[in-house]
Amino acid sequence: MASLAVNVDHVATLRQARGAAYPDPVAAAVIAELAGAEGIVVHLREDRRHIQDRDVKILRKVVQSKLILEMAATPEMIGIAFDIQPDIVTLVPEKREELTTEGGMDLMVHQNAIAETVETLQNSGIPVSIFIDPDPDQIKLAYQINASMIEIHTGAFCDAKTGSKKNQAFAMIVDAVKFAHKLKMGVNAGHGLCYNTIKDFTGLSEINEFSIGHSIISRAVLVGMENAVKEMRSLIRDL
Ligand code: PXP
Repeated sequence: MASLAVNVDHVATLRQARGAAYPDPVAAAVIAELAGAEGIVVHLREDRRHIQDRDVKILRKVVQSKLILEMAATPEMIGIAFDIQPDIVTLVPEKREELTTEGGMDLMVHQNAIAETVETLQNSGIPVSIFIDPDPDQIKLAYQINASMIEIHTGAFCDAKTGSKKNQAFAMIVDAVKFAHKLKMGVNAGHGLCYNTIKDFTGLSEINEFSIGHSIISRAVLVGMENAVKEMRSLIRDL
């Protein structure tokens, strides 16, 4: 059964919108864990638009399950990862002008820099996942640079506007997941997943973990964090 890692970035987005002390992503993480989340994800962005350094430090002390730090492969972030010692680092591409992480890491372009970051972090005992598009060439490169696992970008599937585009995007995810699994890589999936799109993953048991943020935090505004996490947890359990 796949596990659920809850991304609490958007609790921090709401806090930063007013420059207030609330809502606290740390509180959201605690409730998410109590409701069954098997991991807590935060993306410490270079521009600190949502999650702050203070959040990551406190989360490291508070999170009981698994703290997954999403970050760009920059010297600053590598230093923070060394200090914090998250359970897993997920390397993501980062552009200042984007609303959210738009595409997967392009390992054709960044292979050497990413390989060096993977080696540095993994040699220090932090397993590394690389966020990539469902593309066999990218998976081969992630395998070659010895990443412990990959996270398949599900955004194109979730955002597809027509049935045929959705089917096409999903077929790419299925092929990518099966290919990575064959290579004995850990396979996670995430981005844009919601309470409807998650149901399409029924039977795709090679996925170890789903990383979900925006839809859960949005639902939590209406039904509460505990209910929002429990509902998603139960949908994943039934896949
Ligand atoms: N996985 C990665 C690598 C991400 O960058 C994000 C967004 O921060 C997510 C998963 C979660 O995406 P969403 O918030 O759309 O569920």
